[in-house]
Amino acid sequence: MFSAWITALIAGVSTLVIQKLFFPYFWMDLKLLTKAISYGIKIEIYKKTAKVVTVLDRFMQQAQKIPNKPFIIYEDNAFTYQDVDKRSNKVAQVFFKQGGLKKGDTVALLMSNEPDFINVWFGLCKLGCAVAFLNFNIKSRSLLHCFNSCGAKTLVVGSDMTDTLEDILPNLHEDNISVWIMASESHQPGINTILDKLEDAPDEPVPAHLRATDSVKTPTLYIFTSGTTGLPKAAVISQLQSLKGAAGLWAYGATADDIVYVTLPLYHSAASLIGVGGCIELGATFVLKKKFSASQFWSDCRKYNVTVFQYIGEICRYLCNMPKKEGEKDHKVRMGVGNGVQQNIWKEFLDRFGDIKLCELYGSTEGNVCFMNHIGKIGAVGRSNFFYKRIFKYCLVKYDMENGEIILNEQGFCEEVKKGEAGLLLSQINSMSPFFGYAGSKSLTEKKLLRDVFMKGDVYLNTGDLMVEDQEDFIYFKDRIGDTFRWKGENVSTTEVADVVGIIDFLQEANIYGVSVPGYEGKAGMAAVVLNPGCGFDGKSLYEHVEHYLPGYARPRFVRIQKSMEITGTFKQQKFRLVESGFNPSTITDSLYFLDESQKCYVPLTTEIFDIIVSGQIKL
Ligand SMILES: *[C@@H]1O[C@H](CO)[C@@H](O)[C@H](O)[C@H]1NC(C)=O
Ligand SMILES: *[C@@H]1O[C@H](CO)[C@@H](O)[C@H](O)[C@H]1NC(C)=O
Ligand SMILES: *[C@@H]1O[C@H](CO)[C@@H](O)[C@H](O)[C@H]1NC(C)=O
Repeated sequence: MFSAWITALIAGVSTLVIQKLFFPYFWMDLKLLTKAISYGIKIEIYKKTAKVVTVLDRFMQQAQKIPNKPFIIYEDNAFTYQDVDKRSNKVAQVFFKQGGLKKGDTVALLMSNEPDFINVWFGLCKLGCAVAFLNFNIKSRSLLHCFNSCGAKTLVVGSDMTDTLEDILPNLHEDNISVWIMASESHQPGINTILDKLEDAPDEPVPAHLRATDSVKTPTLYIFTSGTTGLPKAAVISQLQSLKGAAGLWAYGATADDIVYVTLPLYHSAASLIGVGGCIELGATFVLKKKFSASQFWSDCRKYNVTVFQYIGEICRYLCNMPKKEGEKDHKVRMGVGNGVQQNIWKEFLDRFGDIKLCELYGSTEGNVCFMNHIGKIGAVGRSNFFYKRIFKYCLVKYDMENGEIILNEQGFCEEVKKGEAGLLLSQINSMSPFFGYAGSKSLTEKKLLRDVFMKGDVYLNTGDLMVEDQEDFIYFKDRIGDTFRWKGENVSTTEVADVVGIIDFLQEANIYGVSVPGYEGKAGMAAVVLNPGCGFDGKSLYEHVEHYLPGYARPRFVRIQKSMEITGTFKQQKFRLVESGFNPSTITDSLYFLDESQKCYVPLTTEIFDIIVSGQIKL
């Protein structure tokens, strides 16, 4: 394997040199490739020698090397590398003595963005535990499901999560789950407190053999995604993936002197693996924000001398939507790393806020392929080239949007699209690009896989994303297929929403999909429903139902009443035509309803309401 890397490197680079010497992006491509390969070799050595230097090990090295350098800045308090090392030691000590945990156990963490999120996470990793990050927006039923699916027997909750906890506490007690809260006292019975115990705990490290691992495949985190079907799934994040994530900022040219602004939720891989992990790799500082705020964004950047920020497309849009002010280019931000900024917003962002390089990064939490747009080409999510294709065996195959199926040739195999055409992104699974799947069920993992794609016996991961590669090898994101869509930076699983909406008594069936709304990233949820015979539509009770069971981003914004459910040629619910037809009441004859937050009810969607949604006067 090791020598294969080198041979491939030499063969690849020399071909590249000959073929593309006059190609405009050559040197930038080469720089990134060299970094990718040197990091790849390091990981290959870990694999060969079974001496894995994990991201946590890197953190502890940094704590030795630069103990007094700020690691986290949060609400005007700076926590140095040493501070975080010591406090996470204390957390480890508390759980070591009193937590009944052993190496390899999984602990669930339900906490908002705050420094103790990091302290608890690292503390548990020091005990050799895997940590499952729970999304604090989700509601009781899904939350319990997440909890059970990662096999955790211990839950740690932040002090501001007591309401969510109250909802599920009886079920947790029933399952004999030990619950720990970041507080000094608790008035609820059967809950362990942490803060009081931390005070007395020593800040010495727990034995090092606990955190040691001999394989890059060892799970270190579980991060929930709503893959393609059903309730959220726990993607297994191995040491390998966390090491790869930690290289992202460095690969884009960030350095130890950078100050990274993290406003995205830590339970997602972007903030935790790329942001926090990336700072550890560099020995840099990050400014942690409880929640993104458009009005505080630039003042924070000035106050803390932020140089790099993490984004999703929505963040750039919200910043562009803020009223214009004097001196908007007056800051030290030079780079943004993230995903999903639309072309027009990208241009506007640069015009207004100055020469900031936006580095798009494509790669799903659990996926085995990643693209980087290190050139800063507006609109592209990434870039490929001759050599890249030899490292990452990915392909774009023909896909039939209307019927929601891959198009197969006469031999029953997939076919690649031509350059410039949209195709479904598949990525080959092999020892260099492994796929670690989901916790719990094998069938969930199997559903993401495609077998016999180009020949008998090959295996590919189906990313569910339609992409285009242009003549210059830039890669663009087109659409997401299958059973999820993005809204407000979160994945919405259509089957999960359909299950919740479908149980209401006056509905026979619900088909959930997302429609594009001008001025928004992603898709807004719509439920096409068929009423039970003799039943009317009750907008009030549907509102109360979704409000109780679904997180804000998953609640359908629109409802469309249909006489019967349309199905595709292969008896699946027809989504494509419905998605295409949108939500305009003047072109759709079915009755439409709109989720009106102010009236707490689904109200008829009139052309007046449609107009004010499209003109942006109502915020969805
Ligand atoms: C509950 O957990 C405790 C300690 O974790 C254990 O001693 C006890 O046997 C468990 N009870 C059941 C019913 O599983
Ligand atoms: C930001 O940079 C300026 C000038 O380099 C420096 O004077 C100031 O102390 C820095 N602020 C912080 C919070 O580090
Ligand atoms: C959305 O889903 C994809 C595909 O499962 C996953 O890789 C990605 O990390 C998810 N994103 C979020 C923000 O949950």
